[in-house]
Amino acid sequence: MEINFETLRGDVERALAEAMDIPSLEALRVRMLGKKGEITQLLKTLGTLAPDERRVFGQKVNDFRRVFEQGITEAREFLQFKQQSQAIEKETIDVTLPGRRRAIGRRHPIASVQDKLTDLFIGLGFTVAEGPHIESEYYNFEALNTPADHPSRDEQDTLYITDRIVLRTQTSPVQVRTMESMKPPIRIVAPGKVFRADEIDATHTPVFHQIEGLVIDKGITLGDLKGIQELAARHLFGENTKIRFRPSYFPFTEPSAEVDVTCHACGGNVPPEGCRVCKDSGWVELWGCGMVHPRVLEMSGIDPKVYSGYAFGMGIDRITSSLFGITDPRNYFENDMNFLAN
Ligand code: DAH
Repeated sequence: MEINFETLRGDVERALAEAMDIPSLEALRVRMLGKKGEITQLLKTLGTLAPDERRVFGQKVNDFRRVFEQGITEAREFLQFKQQSQAIEKETIDVTLPGRRRAIGRRHPIASVQDKLTDLFIGLGFTVAEGPHIESEYYNFEALNTPADHPSRDEQDTLYITDRIVLRTQTSPVQVRTMESMKPPIRIVAPGKVFRADEIDATHTPVFHQIEGLVIDKGITLGDLKGIQELAARHLFGENTKIRFRPSYFPFTEPSAEVDVTCHACGGNVPPEGCRVCKDSGWVELWGCGMVHPRVLEMSGIDPKVYSGYAFGMGIDRITSSLFGITDPRNYFENDMNFLAN
């Protein structure tokens, strides 16, 4: 039998070099050494040969088989090594990659303004008082000099739970609760949610936030009140902020005032093209205050002949809108991350 071992060897070497992975290497091994493999076939023919031929041919086939097996072993080792190093490369941790950022929450704008104000007052010697959201008519209205037939009750669209129980429409009931439980001198602020049956629109939400202040001591005057209001305005809007008191009416204070603050957009100097924030007035109306009405003191067991005091009630939502230029308070309640994160 004439076999050109040179050609065969060339073929096999090429096939070995072309085997790019273990399965194709295994296929090649079966092709040559399997039951019907080419080398197996050659070995089977040995029996049909004359002894002389058998020796020479047998040796050639066996040499070839040894070379082939050696080639398979080397190729397998090489492919395994290649596979391993590829896997290692893939698993390598690139320590120079920047870490994955976690989205960190931040204070809600209303909470941050509430904290900013509360911190100021704590620094001035006030303590923080709290009251319930579900409040009696007595604390929310009557004890604040607002009897049932009082016209100002109509102005606050109250959410009733029962005949006599309401969702507090203001933080002012905390004034009464504090006067009942503490003796003067009293210096408290009470931040929190308040509720009114308002339709949601660009200036109203049924839930909003106030911070109430109450100071009662001997000899407290309107001057003390104004000084503190000015301090709060500067703390919020900057050192150059001025305030003015405009006469107003609240049932539980006498006299009462609206606090206007110089417009932080135009600084109170309305430019020729006008100012949207203050509607060209140079002032922004921000909150109410006044000297505590003697009747309110009396009802809570404090002698108005001995003590006087002032109170104020700031709308935190409105202040926050002014500070951040927010035009729609619905944003505060919609959990929109674009709004909250910016
Ligand atoms: N409670 C008032 C409101 O909700 C705000 C207010 C005004 C509170 C004057 C006060 C005050 O303590 O003195 O409209």
